[in-house]
Amino acid sequence: MVHICCYAQSPLITNVYNRTIINLNGKWQYIVDPYETGFYDYRWKERNERDREAYWNSDVPDNKTDRKEHGYTDKNILNVPGDWNSQDTKFLYYEGTVWYKKSFDFKNVAADKKVFLYFGAVNYKCDVYLNGKKLGAHKGGFTPFNFEIPQDLLKEKENFLVVKVDNKRYADEIPTLNTDWWNYGGITRDVQLVLVPQNFIRDYSIQLSKTSLSTKEKKIEGWIKFSAPVNENILLEIPGLKFKKEIAVSGDSAAFNFTLPALELWSYQRPKLYQIILTSKDDKVKDKIGFRTIEVQGSRILLNGKPIFLRGICIHEEIADQGRRAYSKADALQLLKQVKELNANMVRLAHYPHNENMVRMADSLGILVWSEIPVYWTIDFGNAEVLQKAKQQLNEMITRDRNRCSIIIWSVGNETPVTDARTNFMGNLAQTARQMDGYRIISAALETHTDNGVITVDDPLGQYTDMVSVNEYLGWYGGLPNNCRNAQWKIKYDKPLFFSETGAEALGGYHADSLTRWSEEYQEWFYREQVEMMKRMPSNFSGLSPWILNDFRSPRRNNPTYQQGWNNKGLFDHNGKKKKAFYVLKSYYDEMKKKMP
Ligand code: GCU
Repeated sequence: MVHICCYAQSPLITNVYNRTIINLNGKWQYIVDPYETGFYDYRWKERNERDREAYWNSDVPDNKTDRKEHGYTDKNILNVPGDWNSQDTKFLYYEGTVWYKKSFDFKNVAADKKVFLYFGAVNYKCDVYLNGKKLGAHKGGFTPFNFEIPQDLLKEKENFLVVKVDNKRYADEIPTLNTDWWNYGGITRDVQLVLVPQNFIRDYSIQLSKTSLSTKEKKIEGWIKFSAPVNENILLEIPGLKFKKEIAVSGDSAAFNFTLPALELWSYQRPKLYQIILTSKDDKVKDKIGFRTIEVQGSRILLNGKPIFLRGICIHEEIADQGRRAYSKADALQLLKQVKELNANMVRLAHYPHNENMVRMADSLGILVWSEIPVYWTIDFGNAEVLQKAKQQLNEMITRDRNRCSIIIWSVGNETPVTDARTNFMGNLAQTARQMDGYRIISAALETHTDNGVITVDDPLGQYTDMVSVNEYLGWYGGLPNNCRNAQWKIKYDKPLFFSETGAEALGGYHADSLTRWSEEYQEWFYREQVEMMKRMPSNFSGLSPWILNDFRSPRRNNPTYQQGWNNKGLFDHNGKKKKAFYVLKSYYDEMKKKMP
């Protein structure tokens, strides 16, 4: 008898790409089910597990008299990973349920192994079934999750894996009903079977202590977590430093710290990564980790103890010329190469955690990262359940990426309207993020208000964040670009000031005079005025991440000539061609790099 603890996920396994995995990517069959027929009967009652008309049960008729009204076929195929919207025109605007099905063989693994089913992300909610049994469910479109598969549920042949994916939007979800990005649905990232020992190293943290900077020796601190209690010494190795350390563990976790001879710090100029090997009695996990410190001191941001200026740019997780979600290493390299062309040293991954390939590529290429949960705009801030959903996504984001040195900022949200309920909700998230990970800066895009050319930043959320990040669109949403010339800034907080967004639209290839809205010349003028204003900013001005690297799809952008379902604030157009404004920002970054390398 198989006992499944329904609907619970197992605690997240980190660093799955460096474990023993069986890839379930590729062609999955699907059934489009806008009326949820596979889940509810005609009286809208949830079907019970053995209901033969449930879409998680076999679609093969028992005999010629048997009535089956659902079925999976090679005529209906979706590629996984990948959003469904870009794979077939009938899905472009689709918001609803699609059932995915994959059959796989599984040669019997030794009894000493455990098998987990791991999803990089599914947007937005999913229910997962294997061989007619429910493994569990998950909500949240941009973070990983996994389920343990009971050994006796797996068969040698034809395992029947079914995933119900529903991307409908709801007022009490994260994000909520309205976003300025496309609601790409589907199994949008990798699906793996992860094979681990019965008792395995599930998670770990290895960080450079901030106290290290004042000494030649470097202090490393961290912890290791097992899937179950152990009583043994594990070995931590850093071959590049010829370093080995035994760590005694009695229980399911242990903290450690040790000092290292001079090591090479990670920075965006020199992104040095060290191989780390953790070996226990039954398990061995390898990773590549960079050692750096990041902190706010007064009104400056310090990387490895030195003040830096963030030459950033915002990115959506999208490949514009194909109009699809990005997910692969090649996609990450393509996007971050564009960032490097801009002479940027930082990316704001808007407005949700991007795929793991992106942050690992940033580690390797030396690009600082702002990572964010999609607490965006008009969230249901008075709802305690919604706060728990936000905390779940925050926890999944931090758990997956806490060892990614390129990530220097956790952001708990974007442009949320100021009310007491919102400030309590967001303040709670900021404190939670700090408790989950004390090694990074906590931020959020705050609100401003403008009176007679004076832009005031006194958002109460600013008391909870380490830096003052604001989105400003002077000259696009507020008057014309020359409004920047008289702009005065009044900042309530003595913390680093950061423009987390600024930008203007231009239809790539549309040329006119600079006063003509939607022309490349208008966008170019916008950036020229912004750059001149930035040169006059107060000394705590610590950088910017303009909106945005590439044009991106948005259902909110419906000017029939200049948008047609796209937000065209990209510095690159739909086809990856640079617009004139690109060169204005690049020359500013060239200048800033000389001043603050
Ligand atoms: C907002 C928001 C973005 C949006 C942008 C715009 O600041 O944060 O998600 O796309 O402005 O209006 O283009």
